Amino acid sequence: MKLENARVVVTGGAAGIGKSLAKLLAARGCKVVVADYDLDRATAAASEIGPLAHPVRCDVSDHASVEALAEQAYALLGGVDAVFANAGVSHSGALIDATPEQLDWVMGVNVRGVWSTASVFAKRMIASGHPGHICITASEHALGLQHTGGGLYTASKHAALGLGEILRAELPETIGVSVLCPGLANTELHLSGRVSPFGPGDPGSVAVGAAVLARGMSADRVAEGAIAGVERGDFLIVTHSISFKAAERRFAEISAAFAAQAPWSADAERYDVNRVVAEVIASLKDAGDKA
Ligand SMILES: NC(=O)c1ccc[n+]([C@@H]2O[C@H](COP(=O)([O-])OP(=O)(O)OC[C@H]3O[C@@H](n4cnc5c(N)ncnc54)[C@H](O)[C@@H]3O)[C@@H](O)[C@H]2O)c1
Repeated sequence: MKLENARVVVTGGAAGIGKSLAKLLAARGCKVVVADYDLDRATAAASEIGPLAHPVRCDVSDHASVEALAEQAYALLGGVDAVFANAGVSHSGALIDATPEQLDWVMGVNVRGVWSTASVFAKRMIASGHPGHICITASEHALGLQHTGGGLYTASKHAALGLGEILRAELPETIGVSVLCPGLANTELHLSGRVSPFGPGDPGSVAVGAAVLARGMSADRVAEGAIAGVERGDFLIVTHSISFKAAERRFAEISAAFAAQAPWSADAERYDVNRVVAEVIASLKDAGDKA
């Protein structure tokens, strides 16, 4: 989908990759809703970007808030051609030390938020009869990066990729789906505590996070890659060549496990679940037709 003069919603648009997306899209003549949990920062970002940007408060982890965002976006833009489900938060700490509440928060924003955004906007795009595109921001974590100390985040990004894969299969061809999987980017993700119910976070971890992220790729470069990927219609959008190492390591492990434990055999396709489902549905229909 060409992203020139398009009508676009960017969640998490007040900072980092989302703000760069909104800025670069507005520079291409797009009308952009800058949706964020933090309305003050969304308003500041929108006024920096210019008259094509419109700030809207939205908490993507709250389905009603996403419904309200869609209502406002359609009223402000006269329709929506593309949505970047980009809002996300990080949480640092060993996985076994996380609390159930922290897990719910990270999954609430990074998984439920992506699902709500995709569900609410895809339904409206389909109803409008116009083509649309949904781009989900996951991470290189979803490709197999084993970065200890961010386990809840890693798990949430696998779920985001899973949501994208099923959306691609289930949505009509008129609605494109992409999953952006960036690596280290120079953003304010270490400040996720600003929007966390648990407060700003341990100052030591926040300082380490800030120093690490400061060495990341510029958010503009990541956003440029995302926009180019959506325009090409790519499903997987990658930006950091180093991420391939993680993906390769994971695939090598999967490959070795199959070679040793379940090598290809003559009856392998008997258990092809999609084929089994299709055959069962066809036979039930056949039985129904005959009855
Ligand atoms: N920075 C990185 O290294 C990196 C790498 C890979 C993927 N990502 C992903 O990129 C996306 C953008 O993150 P970023 O790095 O630009 O971080 P950022 O913190 O700079 O920006 C995230 C924005 O999302 C907003 N937000 C947080 N919770 C929200 C909620 N519940 N509802 C609406 N908005 C909310 C924040 O207020 C903030 O403005 C995230 O999904 C993140 O996981 C970041």
